[in-house]
Amino acid sequence: MSESKQNTSLCIICDNDTLYEQARSFAAEQQLPLFDKKNKSFELQFIFGSERIELFDKQLNTSIFVDFVSGALAHRQQFGGGRGQAIAKAIGLKKGKNPNVLDVTAGLARDAYILATLGCRMTLVEKSPILSTLIQNGISRGMESEQSAQTLSEGFVVHNQNAINFMKNIDKHQIPDIIYIDPMYPERKKSALVKKDMQILQRLLEKEEKDGELLEAALNCARERVVVKRPVHAPCLTEVKPATSILSKKTRYDIYLTTSSKN
Ligand SMILES: C[S@@+](CC[C@H](N)C(=O)[O-])C[C@H]1O[C@@H](n2cnc3c(N)ncnc32)[C@H](O)[C@@H]1O
Repeated sequence: MSESKQNTSLCIICDNDTLYEQARSFAAEQQLPLFDKKNKSFELQFIFGSERIELFDKQLNTSIFVDFVSGALAHRQQFGGGRGQAIAKAIGLKKGKNPNVLDVTAGLARDAYILATLGCRMTLVEKSPILSTLIQNGISRGMESEQSAQTLSEGFVVHNQNAINFMKNIDKHQIPDIIYIDPMYPERKKSALVKKDMQILQRLLEKEEKDGELLEAALNCARERVVVKRPVHAPCLTEVKPATSILSKKTRYDIYLTTSSKN
């Protein structure tokens, strides 16, 4: 596969006529086998189903998918604490300020969607073709629900690319105010402590030690600040020290201020 060099065996499943063409061309592009039902010999199964596209993990017997309409994200949209929550403070959201934010580690687009509900215009970059397909499918389904459609239509664009190249080649009219980075957390020894969805991401993605390059490219690209999400006690991403940090219960947001040379 191009940018998501998977660690584990992976196949595509499509039991849905409507999505068959999309599944077929994805399988051909990524050189993955395509089946019409679950296949016991593959650890991870990328399923183009009748309700949604999802990634099924055989060992954990569960799937990840992107859902802006119900579940945790919809709940957080309603009850998450608005601009008083730590992520909003880290981004620097103030009354009347709706910055352009570039999320260079989109993943399952959860943080990006929270920021969008708080008024940020979001551009997302995700290097994994599987994860960016999950996000696109989440957006298509989200556009059918009134509540999420409004948030998504105010700016929520996804690019399947390596963010380091994306930032290096960005058009000067598209320079973001803020860049948000949420790298894969350092692996925990006790896997019971890692949520199932993160375990699936860890299985899907090969850990590449390019987080330092990502931060450097972001510091050269953002107009105002770069925000890096870390576990509370984790070291900073590189030796470059943040200007300040915002803490919540389990998470620390390191804030790096950039020069105004891009204004
Ligand atoms: C911990 S996950 C992000 C989770 C995300 N914040 C969310 O709320 O769902 C990190 C993601 O960053 C992506 N990533 C890491 N380095 C990247 C790069 N250089 N370019 C684009 N995506 C990258 C990985 O593929 C992975 O999906």
